[in-house]
Amino acid sequence: MSNPASPPAVDVLDERPGLTFPPGFLWGAATAAYQIEGAAAVDGRAPSIWDTFSHTEGRVVAGHTGDVACDHYHRLGDDVALMAELGLKSYRFSVSWSRVQPGGTGAANPAGLDFYRRLVDELLANGIEPWLTLYHWDLPQPLEDAGGWPARDTAARFADYTTLMADALGDRVRYWTTLNEPWCSAFLGYGSGVHAPGRTNGADAVRAGHHLMLGHGLAVQALRAARPAAEVGVTVNLYPVDPASDTPADSDAARRIDGLANRFFLDPLLRGSYPEDLVADLSTVTDFDHVRDGDLATISTPLDLVGVNYYSRHVVAAPVEGVEADPAPSCWPGSEDVRFVTRGVPVTDMGWEIDAPGLTETLRRVNGYTDLPLYVTENGSAFVDSLVDGEVDDVDRLAYFDAHLRAAHQAIDAGVPLRGYFAWSLMDNFEWAWGYTKRFGMIHVDYDSQVRTPKSSAKWYASVIRRNGLAAQ
Ligand code: FCB
Repeated sequence: MSNPASPPAVDVLDERPGLTFPPGFLWGAATAAYQIEGAAAVDGRAPSIWDTFSHTEGRVVAGHTGDVACDHYHRLGDDVALMAELGLKSYRFSVSWSRVQPGGTGAANPAGLDFYRRLVDELLANGIEPWLTLYHWDLPQPLEDAGGWPARDTAARFADYTTLMADALGDRVRYWTTLNEPWCSAFLGYGSGVHAPGRTNGADAVRAGHHLMLGHGLAVQALRAARPAAEVGVTVNLYPVDPASDTPADSDAARRIDGLANRFFLDPLLRGSYPEDLVADLSTVTDFDHVRDGDLATISTPLDLVGVNYYSRHVVAAPVEGVEADPAPSCWPGSEDVRFVTRGVPVTDMGWEIDAPGLTETLRRVNGYTDLPLYVTENGSAFVDSLVDGEVDDVDRLAYFDAHLRAAHQAIDAGVPLRGYFAWSLMDNFEWAWGYTKRFGMIHVDYDSQVRTPKSSAKWYASVIRRNGLAAQ
């Protein structure tokens, strides 16, 4: 029940029976360093691949960069106060590696570490559990110059950086995520090149994926050594992949894309092996000679939890005979000619189809791999918002959250040990290659004035947190 002393400003749940989440359910919101911090060249921070990429003409819509972003670096106190007003139980943020270890190797930058210490202390002072992601896509540029994720050594550098962070913050941060969405780092960063560093080579993308997971495994071991009490996990972005029809050819297309999108990561991380069919699909791209003895054991080092980011579903069809695959660099190496099909269902401003049942399906699938506690570490939607008389009535975003929370609850009913949910995102921010043109926030950001305005979805989410649940429909 909501607290009668402070009624939510918007309570669309009034008078309706509740759908309650388990006690202690961790209600949160998420952000990432490069998307919100700004202060790109302040207090010793050096460039990451996203600084270089966003400053390269033609890479990001309208030439937007994260130089200022939401200026969160200078507004930490106010931003945590907003989180406290929402009643967040947890806040998932990422650390800018380039801020705390500007060269990607060697000495730490005390001013950079100090920023995260202040953030964590402020969260704890407000009763908000800090949830730290070590890598949300922003590799220090010197490490990219040395080969980036396709180079094996980057995994070892990531482990060193992890030790540095565990030493600095492990006394006050309980929840740690190694990587955010390694699929994006590998296949958008080195395959299609639409994300930093913008390289386009299928074999490099596959190598990057492997070394990201190797870095993850080494980082888990580093965290365990430094902070035995830490709760450690990884965040993967998963999609149900459906065939457009029940023909064998479409089913095979779905199998291929499922291999690259989901099983490329789930199988090594949670089972310690690459799926054989995936290795066969990739045989024209790479012979996996980058995989060394012992790597898969490291990659599958036991975890305490798994984070799932969920946005949409893929529906795919077999290539049409005689029609050449799009010659643009692909994020689906070896399966470039598979067609992605739209179903005509409602989409978000990203063009992503809204498919809440896919979240239930995805959580159940991961639960088929592991009994570990699961967390939805991101889920949310971009819509075009309008700020009218100081209000943003984002009914579509609110409905998206509502539908997906119901889907999450269904997974719990089906026995999935789902322990928390993080809305993406706390506030509007730099949406990577889309710059500031896509708004995912529950809090509106005016990028000229840096004024924050909680949208209807934020006020609604606050009421969900207060009652630990939703109304039944
Ligand atoms: C995810 C990213 C996150 C944000 C959302 C919309 O893939 O992890 O940073 O861009 O998509």
